[in-house]
Amino acid sequence: MKNENEKEQNTDQPCGVTDPPALLNGRPLTIVSNRGPIGFSCSEEGELQIQRSSGGLVTALLGLAQNINVTWIASAINDLENEYGHGQYSLNENGRAINLELVPLEPDVYEGFYNVISNPLLWFLQHSMWDVVNSPTITRATWQAWQNGYVVANQRFAEAVAHNVRSTPGRSIVMVQDYHLYLLPRMLRKILHLNRKNDQLSLTHFVHIPWPGAEELRILPPEMRLSILEGMTAVDVLGFQTYEDSINFLQAVIANLPGASVSYKNRRIWYRNRATIVRDFPISIDVAALKERALTEEVKQQREALEQSTQEMQVILRVDRTEPSKNIVRGFEALAEMLETYPEHIGKVKFIALLVPSRLDVDEYRDYHDKLMAAAGWVNSKFGTSDWEPIRIILGDNYDRAIAGLQLYDVLLVNSIADGMNLVAKEGPIVNQKNGVLVLSERTGVSQQLSEGALTISPCDIVDTANALHQALVMPEEDRARRARILRTQVEQNDINAWFCDQINEITRLGY
Ligand code: F6P
Repeated sequence: MKNENEKEQNTDQPCGVTDPPALLNGRPLTIVSNRGPIGFSCSEEGELQIQRSSGGLVTALLGLAQNINVTWIASAINDLENEYGHGQYSLNENGRAINLELVPLEPDVYEGFYNVISNPLLWFLQHSMWDVVNSPTITRATWQAWQNGYVVANQRFAEAVAHNVRSTPGRSIVMVQDYHLYLLPRMLRKILHLNRKNDQLSLTHFVHIPWPGAEELRILPPEMRLSILEGMTAVDVLGFQTYEDSINFLQAVIANLPGASVSYKNRRIWYRNRATIVRDFPISIDVAALKERALTEEVKQQREALEQSTQEMQVILRVDRTEPSKNIVRGFEALAEMLETYPEHIGKVKFIALLVPSRLDVDEYRDYHDKLMAAAGWVNSKFGTSDWEPIRIILGDNYDRAIAGLQLYDVLLVNSIADGMNLVAKEGPIVNQKNGVLVLSERTGVSQQLSEGALTISPCDIVDTANALHQALVMPEEDRARRARILRTQVEQNDINAWFCDQINEITRLGY
């Protein structure tokens, strides 16, 4: 069934206003994500400490949240978060405080929500990483995790957001983030009894990770995939990282959501008497905030420490969570392949891997962590000598060290087998001081914006990757400088403010 509004002109062009506070015009803004922007810990003296959380979502949204008035709703999963998870928190003297509202989730709810359904089931599905001959196997335990974890957590979030909307004067804008919260939008509308536009809020959902082909979604049982699609079609604006992801989603709706009608031309879905427009908003970084942080004393100290270990050697760098989709093992294998094929680099290059341990309660992640450590050990024992270690892995979550590493690289390796965007590839060119070369997987969202300045690779091909690493290491300075300029300009012109404003402009254009 086509609706009247289908006749509207489709214009994918954003309206062009790029000043977030001006654009909001006083409307209250709420960001909702599983991971909050701030982590809490206790010092040895028993004092409460706060630090920035890790990951791409926080990298992207934290700067934004410090420039505008925002409430950020996220999960509370330990005693400290339960105790301190409500109130105004500021991470930096110049930034505004963020109004934090953490949603308490009991350990068994969180276990099913985060460690069984979100990661691995949905994460592996959306990154096309399941080896379906062997897994996933949906067992009674998976169904329990769905019902008592994912559904319950989404309901709790929906109630927290409803409370926030009701207690905030004005028409709220609620921006839901990522794959943990697919069910939230419909639950929220139910609680608030909202159906038609011009109600008391505008609702967006942005998916930070890839959306696979329609057929892939059928790995999920009908009940799960239907609930997910019903949840996602309850928003006004649904955002993906790339145009392909948005089209894949429309196809998924046609194939799996009976009763929905889809316009490809307008990228619009009609379902249950309401419209959802589907767009791509490639996410980015806060360029100004990153440049500022790169000048701090903390970053300088980290850089000096790294320089001591690299000395005169050329540096290949990677900065990642220990995550199977990041393809860390093949990165080490590619280094070995390069040293074999181009032995002139032996003793003259150092591969630094700054790795943040991630999701280690999930078997697949723990196994991958062990595998990558073993792979690095193998390369080091095969090629290393008493005074040269080819690969140095530094484990830990230290953003200043990551920025320091990014300042120093000659080559930045981003070889993900699938990646929604990949913000390390955007951070690198902004702070790097050596006209370093970006070796970039063609299966990342970011390759659509940065491939002209990068050396693109096919991520499963370690010969291709080895050749690209070699090419990057021997590239003439003029070519390096030209490529670095292209990358910098592209990132500077499309920073996080553009990502945010394009979504708000889209809401405004729709008259919500
Ligand atoms: O890339 C998807 C994503 O959800 C990011 O948005 C986030 O920063 C990252 O994964 C980290 O995940 P987690 O919160 O599980 O550590």
